[in-house]
Amino acid sequence: MIISSSKDYRKAAQRRLPPFLFHYIDGGAYDEATLKNNVDDLSKIALRQRILRNMAELSTETELFGEKLAMPLALAPVGLTGMYAKRGEVQAAKAADNKGIPFTLSTVSVCPIEEVVPAIRRPMWFQLYVLRDRGFMKNVLERAKAAGCSTLVFTVDMPVPGARYRDAHSGMSGPNAAIRRYAQSTLYPHWAWHVGLNGRPHDLGNISKYLGKPTGLEDYIGWLGANFDPSISWKDLEWIREFWDGPMIIKGILDPDDARDAVTFGADGIVVSNHGGRQLDGVLSSAKALPMIADAVKGKLKILADSGVRNGLDIVRMIALGADACLIGRAFAYALAAEGQAGVENLLEIMKKEMRVAMTLTGAKTVAEITSDCLVKIEQEI
Ligand code: FNR
Repeated sequence: MIISSSKDYRKAAQRRLPPFLFHYIDGGAYDEATLKNNVDDLSKIALRQRILRNMAELSTETELFGEKLAMPLALAPVGLTGMYAKRGEVQAAKAADNKGIPFTLSTVSVCPIEEVVPAIRRPMWFQLYVLRDRGFMKNVLERAKAAGCSTLVFTVDMPVPGARYRDAHSGMSGPNAAIRRYAQSTLYPHWAWHVGLNGRPHDLGNISKYLGKPTGLEDYIGWLGANFDPSISWKDLEWIREFWDGPMIIKGILDPDDARDAVTFGADGIVVSNHGGRQLDGVLSSAKALPMIADAVKGKLKILADSGVRNGLDIVRMIALGADACLIGRAFAYALAAEGQAGVENLLEIMKKEMRVAMTLTGAKTVAEITSDCLVKIEQEI
């Protein structure tokens, strides 16, 4: 199969993965309206074409929290990444490392912090969820610090998991628990080989290490529902600050008032995100929420944005709308499922080329020059 974009990786991932895993990655919450709008709204942002401006010297490099990035992009935390390819978090982290961008390890990763950090040269970013068991949160924070993780991404848009109909139908959630059955499946031999079935690919390494026993989750979504904590408030963030003195990014902000509160709290950054349309369906797409948030807090903390970024043009759009950098979730998950580390490296190379084309033809020689001037000013309806 010829691969020239993240769309191709999506198709390739669908061919390789068992349906319950493909739909877990690909799907969103409820009617998936926000999931769709994330991609559509971003693609409708009109870039302003400029010509004959000698764009021979151009750089996609930028800096974030004292770290150099080859482009304004990081890999988003994606749960169960180690089920898309063998020791998937290590493979994705190595790809990001080789391409000069940060990798964020999810709380609910297969490979634990201690396995991924030594595999890469760059400092790793670590993502934390609020779980009812605060002992677990303290434990992972201390381990992330001890391992040398540079940045904490604290995800706040999952006090309860949004219902994902595809997961219910595929057996990913609920009593059908596909995770219990997949190990015996002979239907997807490429995938079974790819993930290395003997290595307990469904074990959540960070949690097993804390519990001192394999997790072997049978009803993953049910487990999320039972362990996530809807009582979370800004007070919990104060508590987390006691255990984390490095840069802290709050992920899952979609409203300017919450962004202002993040500034008041003293966050170093935020991620404008609706969790890739996987939580509250019907909320604004990130592309529509971002300009209002940038108006409210630009320059007071770093603004990252995700949800809907599928190519390098989208990165330029998000930066022009006010972000300092972007994250990608599904795009890299598809590439990893299709071709492992090499796939993610190729995807990042493709996205960088796309970004260079967009910068060249909008007249932005540096990331700092990607501003609202790179967009056609058409009044947008919300
Ligand atoms: C996610 N996301 C996520 N976020 C997080 O903070 N912790 C996590 O464990 C996960 N897990 C996860 C699994 C899968 C399969 C997906 C697709 C997403 C959300 C993720 O970090 C990011 O916000 C979105 O993926 C961004 O949207 P796109 O790039 O997928 O459109």
